[in-house]
Amino acid sequence: MNILFFSAQSYDREYFTRANLKTSYNLRFLESPLNVDNTALIKNEKVICVFVNDQVNAEVIAQLKEKGVELIALRCAGFNNVDLAAAAAAGIRVVRVPAYSPHAVAEHAVTMLLSLNRKIYKSYNRIRDNNFTLAGLEGFDLYGKTVGVIGTGNIGMVFCWIMLGFGCKVIAHDVYENKELVQAGVVYKSLQEVITEADVISLHCPLMPETKHMINRESIASMKKGVILVNTSRGGLIDTVAVVDALKKGHIGALAIDVYEQEEHLFFQDFSDTIIMDDVLSRLTTFPNVLITAHQGFFTREALTQIAEVTLNNIRCYSEKKELTNEVK
Ligand code: NAI
Repeated sequence: MNILFFSAQSYDREYFTRANLKTSYNLRFLESPLNVDNTALIKNEKVICVFVNDQVNAEVIAQLKEKGVELIALRCAGFNNVDLAAAAAAGIRVVRVPAYSPHAVAEHAVTMLLSLNRKIYKSYNRIRDNNFTLAGLEGFDLYGKTVGVIGTGNIGMVFCWIMLGFGCKVIAHDVYENKELVQAGVVYKSLQEVITEADVISLHCPLMPETKHMINRESIASMKKGVILVNTSRGGLIDTVAVVDALKKGHIGALAIDVYEQEEHLFFQDFSDTIIMDDVLSRLTTFPNVLITAHQGFFTREALTQIAEVTLNNIRCYSEKKELTNEVK
């Protein structure tokens, strides 16, 4: 079985090469992303392996079909970058890694929240400058605060458990209620109620047409003044321009994002010698109360191991004509 990897980084090579000791497939790694200009790079591979920012739209899928691709193996959970209807029409099947250490992403969300609230990113730099003062580093106790969680699937659920452990009041919104969380004290509410009542809001639902820009001018207007907003899910959940305005007015107290609407043009690449042309992101980086990481929520040893093993197992199931339990339709 020949498998072509797009957007491959050094860690993809490392973890997939190790996981492949069990399967011995022919793996070919390309740094290039998959997009409409790059499908010519596919030679004789029936399986391609893609990541979060590869563009798998209808045009690309038509080219994949011509190239004889039969399976798109996503090495991630989210599949908003794949036109599933076009894939189905082309007879190309799509598999993903539905859960790989939800703890990795949930813990990253908590890391960002704590760092932002307690200004750890500022004190790190201050101490290196021999400045041992505290003014400007004030935070607040999370204990007793209301934390709103939107989406309580694999990752949101772990985030809820951690926040409950901190002694927070956890309110949540999801299309399904998790009974275990309810028993533990999480109170499910409407989206509007969660947005209105929370001191901290953390997003853990998928990006779909109905969730795009769920955080917008209108919803921000009903948030508490000074709310902390955390997004480790997908950039498109937030209308970033509206959030920038709310940060300028002080309505949003602080923002932590691991994902960004236009991240496919920037994330996972080094532009340290270049002028960034994205003015919204550049504006965001000027705020002292905004913390940005470049989609690293998943980036733990445990998650990378899981991703590689589950992806290769998905491909093995396909090649052996077994049931594809991780298929997305
Ligand atoms: P999941 O599928 O286990 O959970 C998603 C939850 O969102 C489900 O409970 C679902 O019912 C809920 N949901 C769906 N529509 C909703 C709506 N309109 N309002 C509220 N809730 C809704 O997914 P999981 O594994 O928890 O991942 C969540 C998201 O995290 C993924 O969609 C992905 O975008 C993102 N992610 C980010 C990573 C990172 O490195 N930053 C890594 C992995 C995932």
